[in-house]
Amino acid sequence: MNLLQKRIIEKIRLAGGRIPFADYMAEALYHPEWGYYNRPEMTIGERGDFYTSPMIHPIFGQCVARQMFRFWRQLDAPPAFTIVEMGAGTGALARDLLAEWDRLQAAAFGTGTGQPVDLRYRIVEQSPVLREMQRESTREIANGRISWHSTLPEVPGYGSLTGVVFSNELFDALPVHRLTMQDGRLQELYVTVRDAGEGAVFEEEPGQLSDEKLASVLSDEILRQLEEGDRLAVSLLAGDAIGAMADALRQGFVLTIDYGDLAPDMYRKSVRTGGIRCYRKQTLVFNPYERVGEQDITADVDFSYLQRMGEEKGLRTIWFLTQTEFLEGLGFLAKVTELQRLAFQDLRADFELQKMLTLYLPQGLGDACKVLIQRKGSCVGVDAD
Ligand SMILES: C[S@@+](CC[C@H](N)C(=O)[O-])C[C@H]1O[C@@H](n2cnc3c(N)ncnc32)[C@H](O)[C@@H]1O
Repeated sequence: MNLLQKRIIEKIRLAGGRIPFADYMAEALYHPEWGYYNRPEMTIGERGDFYTSPMIHPIFGQCVARQMFRFWRQLDAPPAFTIVEMGAGTGALARDLLAEWDRLQAAAFGTGTGQPVDLRYRIVEQSPVLREMQRESTREIANGRISWHSTLPEVPGYGSLTGVVFSNELFDALPVHRLTMQDGRLQELYVTVRDAGEGAVFEEEPGQLSDEKLASVLSDEILRQLEEGDRLAVSLLAGDAIGAMADALRQGFVLTIDYGDLAPDMYRKSVRTGGIRCYRKQTLVFNPYERVGEQDITADVDFSYLQRMGEEKGLRTIWFLTQTEFLEGLGFLAKVTELQRLAFQDLRADFELQKMLTLYLPQGLGDACKVLIQRKGSCVGVDAD
């Protein structure tokens, strides 16, 4: 039994015998020392437990940069522009995005004329280990533009920013409550402990909802479709996070890229896995109570909830797309065509092409990952709907 397991068992004991799954997940992923994302060996990609889009190919960050450039124009090209990246992982996305941003700026304004836009790149990252990795990854491109913060309200100018708050796979890493339909009613799954000492094991037990807001996340339509024994994951923190992103901005955009879908489809699909998935060494594991703190736990995102909670905070949805559609609109296919031409005689180009296509094809991440763009305040050319 590791130290994190012992700590969680103690937490359960202090709470009177059980804790909501969200509290368990918060410890397993984010305990400051032993949580999955805070261990010294934490990484993403080949040497980690899972890949994210920026770890697959730099074209992902390049496409996001092109979208940022559009946002900047849609905000009427302000002289100072802030990009806030929430949960930056290894820093690969920040690095690729900034490199492409500089290229776009140079193409638009000519080189040698200095930095035409005062770009401030703020990274909000809870993990000190990852913050260090991000510093390393972006060292050559940072040029004094990047600052790090452990929470969003710590970002300078929070509440009056002009720019974009964006994330890739942040929401699917937020702790979730697990709900289940049992005895014909919606109940919450709590984590409890069987046996004591080294032989102790975590178990689940149903009980009353720990927070009345949980039921309100699910529409009547979703509740009607649930069958006895179905289990699903609900994130209240997702609502808080999108609210904080809205509050950060005076004028601008919130861009969210993540696994998930609109409700009720998202819930219908995710009941198959009990609402959550775990990853270890690039393999899908279904037991969240194994290797505590040494495997990732993730849950699909309810994009309908993000839209609803965003609207309450003054955000308006402009686009909801698949990753395929998002990349298509940002020059992804031009790069595919270029590599296809080379791939005939160059195996490396063929290899690169195959990797890139993982981001785009529906059977890869193209359909599983969705893109939500929300707007705050008025912007040029995005008010057509
Ligand atoms: C699944 S990883 C995605 C990393 C990166 N965006 C990528 O695409 O490779 C989730 C990231 O969000 C960070 N994170 C999770 N919760 C956070 C929070 N509340 N505030 C800031 N960062 C958070 C994690 O430490 C990690 O860097």
